[in-house]
Amino acid sequence: MPNNKPLSPLLSRYQRLIKISRDLASKLDLDILLMEIVRAAADIANAEEASILLYDPIKEELYFQTATNIDTTLMRGMVVPLHNSIAGWIARNREPIIIDNPQEDKRHFGRVDKTTQMTSRSILGVPLVTKEKMIGVLEAINKKEGTFTPEDQEVLTALGAQAAVAIENSRLFQQSDLIGEFVHEIRTPLSSLGAATHLLQHPRASQEQKEKMLDILHTEIDRLAEMSTAFLDLSRLESGRSQFKIEKFDMGKLLIECRDLVGKEAQENHLDLLLEISEDMPIVRADHDKIKQALLNLLNNAIKYNKEGGQITLRGKVILEEKEFLIEVSDTGVGIEKKHLALIFEKFYRVPDHSDKVDGTGLGLSVVKQIITGHGGRINVESEVGKGTTFTIHLPLL
Ligand SMILES: Nc1ncnc2c1ncn2[C@@H]1O[C@H](COP(=O)(O)OP(=O)(O)OP(=O)(O)O)[C@@H](O)[C@H]1O
Ligand SMILES: [Mg+2]
Repeated sequence: MPNNKPLSPLLSRYQRLIKISRDLASKLDLDILLMEIVRAAADIANAEEASILLYDPIKEELYFQTATNIDTTLMRGMVVPLHNSIAGWIARNREPIIIDNPQEDKRHFGRVDKTTQMTSRSILGVPLVTKEKMIGVLEAINKKEGTFTPEDQEVLTALGAQAAVAIENSRLFQQSDLIGEFVHEIRTPLSSLGAATHLLQHPRASQEQKEKMLDILHTEIDRLAEMSTAFLDLSRLESGRSQFKIEKFDMGKLLIECRDLVGKEAQENHLDLLLEISEDMPIVRADHDKIKQALLNLLNNAIKYNKEGGQITLRGKVILEEKEFLIEVSDTGVGIEKKHLALIFEKFYRVPDHSDKVDGTGLGLSVVKQIITGHGGRINVESEVGKGTTFTIHLPLL
């Protein structure tokens, strides 16, 4: 006789959990993975929302990484103290906890509520730990009906254990991938360094040849140094280890600052540099230095891939209907063929025609993309060969 007895609620929750865990194991992109985890956590614990805090073992602190419902850009990177916070308590004790009245709990860290303008009525938090490693804390916030139960705690703890392994896996994967690419990329400059030193040692090398070799050594060493820095930046961004320092600043001022910083180089290259900003440039909440780095990368490209007597325009405008603001960097330079357009944001990718003429690591745009998507924005490019290129950054207006 078929067994038509309904599954016990706990059992069916475990079945859901197994399905979720299977899905998680196949996600290697950390951002996507973390989003899936918080969604699954809110779902399985019947909570209004959920969030993940990651642990930084070097600084010994927790920081917000991903959350459902609320604006991640506001929260991302926000440091939560190990002491005097509920998440900190969970991380230090490696134990789950249910708190029905966070506002009255001494450990509650109120800045989170203030930032999200939400009040937490109840919290169920579990540690994200693998065999030895503290990865972070997973919190379900505000039970939809009633209060969190020991059963909720049990399933969320089980999800936390799966999630921790998946996060660890994705980080390892990203690392191995990055290291492989890096080693591949440094082989060429290393072998030209080897060849140049070899020639320098040659007893019959002329003075002129030696100077030429020294020049090559110099350029290649600079390139390696530049690549290492860019690469380090990128791997920090990609692995989620780089935290955004969110602060309020005047976007218009930043655009002016960036224009001033590249002004001299544009002039030396006989390029016209224009700045067009609308009067309603917003005060934004973002990582000032990272956004500046992204804009400088784009402006440097606009200089590098330009033509004699060309033009560069840096534009800022607010699109109220879309609740976003745009920053455009346009140039009247060499342009990019369509078949390369989709690839230029890839690590190390350089348009072959360009790489023969100008130096670069091919990492600049990957860094830009990570910074912008990390802020909840996106970046587009339009280009016409021989006419010029426009990069457009869309950032959410808060
Ligand atoms: N404004 C532009 N006009 C034409 N081509 C561009 C422009 N910006 C980028 N590119 C193309 O995209 C490629 C990737 O750009 P990216 O900034 O990532 O690397 P790079 O400029 O080569 O090196 P780096 O920025 O690390 O010095 C460039 O090599 C170039 O071929
Ligand atoms: Mg570049």
